[in-house]
Amino acid sequence: MSRDQINVGIIGFGTVGMGAVELLETNADWIAQRVGSRVVVKTIVDLDWKRERRYTVRPEQQSTKINDVLDDPEIDIVIEAMGGTHPAHRVVADALKRRKSVVTPNKELIAKHGAELLNLASEAKVDLMFEGAVGGGIPIIRPMKESLAGDRIQRIVGIVNGTTNYILTAMSHEGLDFSAVLKDAQVQGYAEADPTADVEGYDAMYKIAILAAIAFGSHIDLNSIYREGITRISAADIEYAHQLGYEVKLLAVAARHHDALDLRVHPTFVPVDHPLAAVNGVFNAIFVQSDPVGDLMFFGRGAGSGPTGSAVVGDVIDCARNINLGASARVPCRCYLNLPIQPISEVQTRYYLRTVVKDQIGVIGKIATILGDHQVSLVSIFQPHLEENTVGEGLAEIVWITHQVQEAKIQAALQALDKLDEVIEVANLVRVEGK
Ligand code: HSE
Repeated sequence: MSRDQINVGIIGFGTVGMGAVELLETNADWIAQRVGSRVVVKTIVDLDWKRERRYTVRPEQQSTKINDVLDDPEIDIVIEAMGGTHPAHRVVADALKRRKSVVTPNKELIAKHGAELLNLASEAKVDLMFEGAVGGGIPIIRPMKESLAGDRIQRIVGIVNGTTNYILTAMSHEGLDFSAVLKDAQVQGYAEADPTADVEGYDAMYKIAILAAIAFGSHIDLNSIYREGITRISAADIEYAHQLGYEVKLLAVAARHHDALDLRVHPTFVPVDHPLAAVNGVFNAIFVQSDPVGDLMFFGRGAGSGPTGSAVVGDVIDCARNINLGASARVPCRCYLNLPIQPISEVQTRYYLRTVVKDQIGVIGKIATILGDHQVSLVSIFQPHLEENTVGEGLAEIVWITHQVQEAKIQAALQALDKLDEVIEVANLVRVEGK
């Protein structure tokens, strides 16, 4: 039998917490019809109630003490919207132990402690839901857990960080360098004052770890995931990518190869005819190859108050329905494997290589010989002709695209190139998507 009212407590009233409260209150009648009970935001915890906000809440909802939510027996569902793991980990564990369902869009928390927290939720017979943790407003966790539960997911490739996609898109459209675009993105509020988590790929790493755990039923050792950010991508790399028919994207990749996982985050040349090449600005997209369903693409806004609030409220409604159903059991963590993650040295992919060389007869031949000696097969060689020589008098840039080759081989080739007198530097090495 449905209860008259289900109460929600929210910890953290920033962008996401506010988006969730606004949606729960604005659509309260509609949500009540869908749940069979009114879902009421009873208490909101935040340390700063003086800050001016777009959406204001009633004084009796405001608190500065987390325990006003945790200790309140009338609160059935807790939304954790603090971010980070301290104190979020303790707070979520406490809430679950007190038999409150928890909704969190906190990717770091779920990537690091998801298994433990899901098991706690299952023991307490409550829910832990985290649709907003990956892809913001894009439904991806529920489709992977439920709709595709009978499929064999083979590979996931995603643009799962909006900040870096905004920066790379601006670099691509305006021909600017990374640092100039980052500064502008910070002024406009698209990038954090400390952009490390986004531009160095940590945010994307947490998200792909969550997707991989669900897709492959395996615990994921975050320390084994290869992670490279976008700070070394230059305007020249993007210009050459265009000339060769690619866009540069920060991709998060997860695939199963026999008894190991290929799991990595790095900038990638994406062929312009690939669906991910057209995903621009702050948008996210996740491309899933699965058997027997085939190729799927999930696309939408990966961050922000409205989109993440939408994912959080969808989860709250699901939790509230389970409370009304009196669902007596919840699914624990379903990771039954501990698949190792391939070291990056064993990964096979294609590469873009940008070399600065002495502009002399025979230099291309010498480099090609070294690459060949290391079993690096070439798809194309390209000498850009820029209006002005930006690399220096007597020097030239040569760009190389390889066939698929093991990373260890290309790294060995780079060491050999380093010793070649004619090679001034290997200015960049970027992985290339595709066979
Ligand atoms: N910082 C993330 C992004 C949003 O830029 O996509 C929250 O996960």
